[in-house]
Amino acid sequence: MRVATVVGARPQFIKMAPLSRELRKYFEEIVIHTGQHYDYEMDRIFFEQLNIPPPDYNLGVGSGFHGYQTGEMLKRIEDVLIKESPDLVIVYGDTNSTLAGALAAAKLRIRVAHVEAGLRCFDRTVPEEVNRVLTDHISDLLFVPTERAVKNLYNEGIKNGVYLTGDVMLDALLHNITIAEKESKIIQELGVEAKSYLLVTVHRAENTDNRARLENIIECLVKCKRKTIFPIHPRTKAFLEKYSLLDKLKNADHIILTKPLSYFDMLVLEKNARQIITDSGGVQKEAYSFKTPCITLRKVTEWPETVEDGLNILVGDDYDLLLDMIWKFEPVGGTYSFRFGHGDASSRVVQIMKNVAKA
Ligand code: UD1
Ligand code: UDP
Repeated sequence: MRVATVVGARPQFIKMAPLSRELRKYFEEIVIHTGQHYDYEMDRIFFEQLNIPPPDYNLGVGSGFHGYQTGEMLKRIEDVLIKESPDLVIVYGDTNSTLAGALAAAKLRIRVAHVEAGLRCFDRTVPEEVNRVLTDHISDLLFVPTERAVKNLYNEGIKNGVYLTGDVMLDALLHNITIAEKESKIIQELGVEAKSYLLVTVHRAENTDNRARLENIIECLVKCKRKTIFPIHPRTKAFLEKYSLLDKLKNADHIILTKPLSYFDMLVLEKNARQIITDSGGVQKEAYSFKTPCITLRKVTEWPETVEDGLNILVGDDYDLLLDMIWKFEPVGGTYSFRFGHGDASSRVVQIMKNVAKA
């Protein structure tokens, strides 16, 4: 079987790393990078650090509004799929690259495998929710990380081709944490002490594109006076500059601003943080896996298991609550309960693909 993998954004490089390693034992893989992310720190660093095979195609689509970006990807992916004629196209997660890859393949009647299928936050104003729903409905194989995600699909009438495998991001984390702890010097470089700092990431449109919300988040970080490490996503940097908020952060002595970090540095900082404050899907799960208390800057989450187990709290846009939680959220009673599997999702996915290829 010839498999084409379509990726384009930071978390997708991390998700494909363990699966690609397993996949290549049995199948031929062509990697199509849409070019959605392109800065070194958002892109190549992950290929280098995680030994991901370099893309066979980089379509260089870059940034733009949703329609432009998704449309350009669709056209360019279609050209490659016609040329390469793979038997299966694999897409990951919920970005515009995911939807474009799935749609291009489905229209060419090539089977689509969606890794991280079935997640819902039940808010269609979130662009990723639209991508998830549409991708799931045109996929043939749906690899699902959690039991709840299986139910979500069932409730939408998707019953065939659904496989509960666990989460490939947990595979990546378990495979890399020991290596990261040996190789990363980030704790020393930043001069912080374990369990004494907040780690912050913000990049969701609902927080960055809304001036009042971004300003409130920054106010809280400045006010709280806790040692804080804030790797800034390029989207967020652009909006902080636009709203003249970057200097507020730079002038706060307790806040360390960095470029987007490597995966190894990020894992080490997550594991050693006192708390994580984030709106990222992947970072919420990683916080859970490290049992690091997580405060989520969203009203809803696709990963409600992390909240149910007491290790994550959603503060939405309630900034008094955010400040309060920075001081008080110490979920000693939180229970880690393997909601995302045991780190063998990639081998399960490949086993299923092998069975499908034989059938
Ligand atoms: C995208 C995904 C989001 C995912 C995130 C992971 C969609 C709709 N959104 O959001 O689901 O959580 O990736 O990080 O697909 N930029 C750069 N350099 C880069 C990439 C982006 O400067 O390498 C800047 C550009 O100004 C760009 C902005 O960031 O306009 C947003 O990038 P885009 O890829 O459109 O969305 P993300 O916010 O990164
Ligand atoms: N990540 C990283 N460096 C950073 C921020 C995040 O390596 O500076 C990793 C993080 O550890 C996780 C993934 O990127 O594995 C999450 O991606 P992101 O937050 O961009 O997107 P989301 O998960 O919200 O789609």
